[in-house]
Amino acid sequence: MKKLKAKITGVHGYVPDYVLTNAELETMVETSDEWITTRTGIKERRILKGEGKGTSIIGIEAAKGLIEKTGTDPAQIDLVICATCTPDMLFPSTANLIAHGIGAVNSFSYDLQAACSGFLYGLATGTQFIEAGTYKKVMVLGVDKMSSIIDYTDRTTCIIFGDGGGAVLLEATEGEEGIIDSILKSDGAGAQFLHMKAGGSRYPASHETIDAREHYVYQEGATVFKFAVKNMADVSVEIMERNNLQADDIAWLVPHQANMRIIDATANRMGIGSEKVMNNISKYGNTTAGTIPLCLWDYESTLKKGDNLILAAFGGGFTWGATYLKWAYNGQD
Ligand code: UT7
Repeated sequence: MKKLKAKITGVHGYVPDYVLTNAELETMVETSDEWITTRTGIKERRILKGEGKGTSIIGIEAAKGLIEKTGTDPAQIDLVICATCTPDMLFPSTANLIAHGIGAVNSFSYDLQAACSGFLYGLATGTQFIEAGTYKKVMVLGVDKMSSIIDYTDRTTCIIFGDGGGAVLLEATEGEEGIIDSILKSDGAGAQFLHMKAGGSRYPASHETIDAREHYVYQEGATVFKFAVKNMADVSVEIMERNNLQADDIAWLVPHQANMRIIDATANRMGIGSEKVMNNISKYGNTTAGTIPLCLWDYESTLKKGDNLILAAFGGGFTWGATYLKWAYNGQD
């Protein structure tokens, strides 16, 4: 029997309606549209408003769209993996809530946390179950409601992040297309530069943690920037070399959308022109685990069967990685 591969047979995304523009941020913190645009490439981001609405809302919307467009019976889904660092609750997992919300009654489901690299970790994990022949239909989501952990008085973080995400369906194939290779890395020494200090088991919520604003993202931006540029580029070049890929062989680089300057630096190191780099940071900002599926969703109509894609990410942990896949179908609107 030929070796099984996992291929993406559909992608769908969801972003909330509310648009937080640079102009509105100018009224909240001391910043300017000019600074944000030139330093990050971001013009606006989406925010999920409404009491009691968590990340699962984003996941359910994306998953429902995916089920509909792929004609999938939710009862046939074997496994739902949700990559997020903003779960609805510490437990149960957001994946449990999404699976319930879409009627995936025969699936099991779990969350996976690797911050901005979460979708790549999820994709690699789902791929293993398909390649092993254990499961036939695996849904992988990357979704985050970053606005729930952002301090909107801190101009160094609040201008970057937004809410949103997407979902892909993985199915088995014996053909050429599918997920071919992944390189995933992590280094907990990076935790000091990017984390949310309180709310976990080390510093449970207390009056003190709230007063100290420790339930928000803490980031030493310039340090994270340096690690991001180096590691995202290194791992992208490594996966090209390991698979004997030249820049011309690659149809698209699908980079995590944290900062346009990090994206450009990665593409330059790979020798890839900007016309082959997916980019939607200007309209969604950094949606953490959501950026890569949101890019695939935005560019789906332009993708062709057999296109070589390199997906690359860097984020909190630190975590980073790259995935090489051959796109499995011709785009659709
Ligand atoms: O996705 C997860 C991983 N995260 C990332 O990859 C993010 C990586 N980091 C970055 O993207 C960038 O470091 C930031 C966008 C966060 C910051 O850009 P930067 O060019 O590294 O700026 P900086 O932190 O070095 O700050 C430069 C100056 C400072 O002022 P002084 O000290 O030079 O007077 C900041 O206070 O810019 C100031 N600044 C701002 N000014 C206007 C910082 N934030 C703002 C702001 N508006 N929003």
